[in-house]
Amino acid sequence: MSSTLSHLECSRCGATGDARAVASVCGACGKPWLVRYDLSRAAQTLSRSALAGRRADLWRYQEVLPVERDEEIVSLGEGMTPLLDAPRLAARAGMRSIWVKEEGRNPTGSFKARGMSAAVSAMVRLGIRRAFVPSAGNAAGALAAYGARAGIAVTIAVPRDTPEPNVLECEAAGAEVHLVDGLIGDCAKFLRERFAGVRDAMDVSTLREPYRVEGKKTMLYELWEQMDGALPDVIVYPAGGGTGVVGMAKALAELRAMGLWNGTSPRFVVVQAAGCAPLVRAFEQGAEFAEPFANAHTIASGLRVPSAIGDFLILRAVRESGGTCVAVSDAELIEELGPATRDTGALFSPEGAAASVALRTLARQGWLGGGEKVVIFNTGSGLKYPQALRAVSRS
Ligand SMILES: Cc1ncc(COP(=O)(O)O)c(C=O)c1O
Repeated sequence: MSSTLSHLECSRCGATGDARAVASVCGACGKPWLVRYDLSRAAQTLSRSALAGRRADLWRYQEVLPVERDEEIVSLGEGMTPLLDAPRLAARAGMRSIWVKEEGRNPTGSFKARGMSAAVSAMVRLGIRRAFVPSAGNAAGALAAYGARAGIAVTIAVPRDTPEPNVLECEAAGAEVHLVDGLIGDCAKFLRERFAGVRDAMDVSTLREPYRVEGKKTMLYELWEQMDGALPDVIVYPAGGGTGVVGMAKALAELRAMGLWNGTSPRFVVVQAAGCAPLVRAFEQGAEFAEPFANAHTIASGLRVPSAIGDFLILRAVRESGGTCVAVSDAELIEELGPATRDTGALFSPEGAAASVALRTLARQGWLGGGEKVVIFNTGSGLKYPQALRAVSRS
């Protein structure tokens, strides 16, 4: 088996691009590229029985990933994270069948490892030796680690109040680290100015290159494999820039096109913090795009993304699946972090705790039926959030 990488396609205007050239966003409309594959060829070798004997990381789905030779793969063992059944967490929500996809088990402790493994592998394929990323924290840690593994020079910029473990892991991995007064958008502005005119460095900002989504989409391929070819009724996902949801919706379309899934789509639930909820607001207003959220603040630092370039893709995925968007206050998610951890044994991050609060809210409102199968994502390990853990232990 090998990749069936074909071309790039604009997610908005449908323009096509070369997957063998360095790409940022669509030159015609400025929206994100998506990677396309020859799915009829992929379907000839990608099946559940073929997958059974493959490597135990996300590169098992190589037909639908953007590398062409095994030597290009930059891996730290990302993906194939546990899908934990959670009967006590389910009972507390008045539900029967809840699972937690434990993304804290990834290298660097979050699902961001998936995207950076794919992006850095694509850089190796394209011969790029420098990369930079503005980040809420976990994406920076992941790029620093995968950059170190590949020998690619990494520069990151994060808000000054980013959780300390994120900053320390980047420094340990040899990245150049900048602490910026402001939020992720200010970090992006800082880096774009710094790298203006530098031609050989890749901007790995969320959806400003096409490859991180490819790593993240494997979360849905894994659910499909781990649930024996089925999918849950509902997926509850904490989102900022939203590449997790965009990636999973893309994976679902690919599974369908390959004839590997013909059921109804899981309903995607996007969870945001009440202090930074641009997607929730746009969803409620019926808007196609999300206005930037003023004065964004939340202890769930990964959700502190006031403006997302892929807003229309996230909202489309939610609406087309019959899903919804939910905002959760910091007080609620801090209160939930301990109980969710005690119910499952998985150390929840604030973002994962937000998903658990949303689950209970939707169950209480009757939006979720008690017998529906639901997967909530703990997108990162609580170990990366000492401040939130301290708030829990004091409460
Ligand atoms: C633990 C965690 N969960 C969720 C998110 C949100 O991810 P995205 O911006 O891809 O929606 C982040 C982003 O930093 C994160 O670190």
